[in-house]
Amino acid sequence: MKNNFQIPSGMHDILPEQQNVWQKINDTLSSIAQFYGFQRIDTSIMEDSELYIKGTGESSEIVQKQMYTLKTAGGDSLTLRPEMTPGIIRAYLEHGMPNLASPMKLYASGPVFRRERPQSGRYRQFHQFDLETIGEQDPVLDVQIIQFCAVALQSLHVGPFIIHINSIGCNQCRPHYKKALKDFYRSKLRQVCADCRARYKTNVLRILDCKDEKCQRVRTQVPPILDYLCEECHNHFKLVLEYMDATGFSYIVNHYLVRGLDYYTKTVFEIFAGDVSTSTEQTPVALAGGGRYDGLVRLLGGKDTPAVGMAMGMERIMNILEEKKATFGKEARIRVFLVQLGDLAKKKSLGLMERFRLSGIPVQESLGRASIKSQLRIADKVGAEFALILGQKEAIDGTVIVREMENGIQETVPLEQIVSYLKKRFAG
Ligand code: HAM
Repeated sequence: MKNNFQIPSGMHDILPEQQNVWQKINDTLSSIAQFYGFQRIDTSIMEDSELYIKGTGESSEIVQKQMYTLKTAGGDSLTLRPEMTPGIIRAYLEHGMPNLASPMKLYASGPVFRRERPQSGRYRQFHQFDLETIGEQDPVLDVQIIQFCAVALQSLHVGPFIIHINSIGCNQCRPHYKKALKDFYRSKLRQVCADCRARYKTNVLRILDCKDEKCQRVRTQVPPILDYLCEECHNHFKLVLEYMDATGFSYIVNHYLVRGLDYYTKTVFEIFAGDVSTSTEQTPVALAGGGRYDGLVRLLGGKDTPAVGMAMGMERIMNILEEKKATFGKEARIRVFLVQLGDLAKKKSLGLMERFRLSGIPVQESLGRASIKSQLRIADKVGAEFALILGQKEAIDGTVIVREMENGIQETVPLEQIVSYLKKRFAG
């Protein structure tokens, strides 16, 4: 029988010593999102598989290869969410949010699951921080989402980073571009990788963001998508770039950026770690990605509703901060250490700890340790200013010994008065 378990491949734990940075990431992203008017939503981690097949898109790599899907005893097919957007739109429609004030600005964070080949920074369970603005087509909202990412990364000191932006057009103009791409690649299929030969049939746009060197060489002669945009998409993109200029964040217009999810229309963007000089690396680390998806709400059963959003990879941010050895503010200093001995003292310690918590006095203890000596050693190690010694005699008398750790001076104080006594000592 197996009794030495290890975490499944591609999964990972976030340990106590990582929580300082992890919580800082969570708190910073949430508070900036709230500042920009986003409201939190938590949706189900499992959804009907069909939601992702339809929403994320049948031809996407996520649906083709990466979903964790299970059949329930009742015969339903459920999938662990590989991204948050379809679930949020499902909740938006299911709970009547189209009838609320528009745009609806929502944020979410939590685990997502993709069966990818695990490697550094690529997990099978990871966390996303996700924003969605639903119900508005103004390009200024595309830029607000990008601005959020840049502001958040900057606030967390995750730099340098570089923003790549493109437009992939709409259902009107994109087919013309796809046709032009097919014409372009038809005679060059032998020069591209096997995956791209398959993409030629399933989703020719995706050839553009292939990381294979051969494919990248061929694509330098590809006609840029911007030449094929219809007037509406062209004007939208022009405004996106103007608003981006107004944010003051630098960016690159990258004609090869097409994104791997099927629902995007018009603006797409991705933010990579590094600066302009590292942006041509083989596999730059994507910290966030998103774009506009004006067709998804309708595809999932709602009315025609424009929307734009993004998701950030929280582990990728944490990895960078850990590499930089970032720490965010030390925990409150432990000034008091409670040392106890004997059964009655242990019982009194339980109530005493709660009195300290209610009074806002941080106290550490090592309940369960029997020897006073070893408890005092711990008090010393954690740098406590005072040790409170509650032995059997003190427990019976209703007192506690306060020991100043620095000089060993001790004083006996009635248990009832210990909170006010310590407050006075701290103040003095
Ligand atoms: P995505 O580009 O697939 O977009 O993922 C967003 C971010 O999640 C990536 O930029 C990356 O930081 C992180 N990420 C992706 N895969 C992994 C992985 N295997 N391990 C660690 N981090 C990873 C979306 O998911 C869209 N739903 C974004 C969106 C929202 N578009 C519109 N609204």
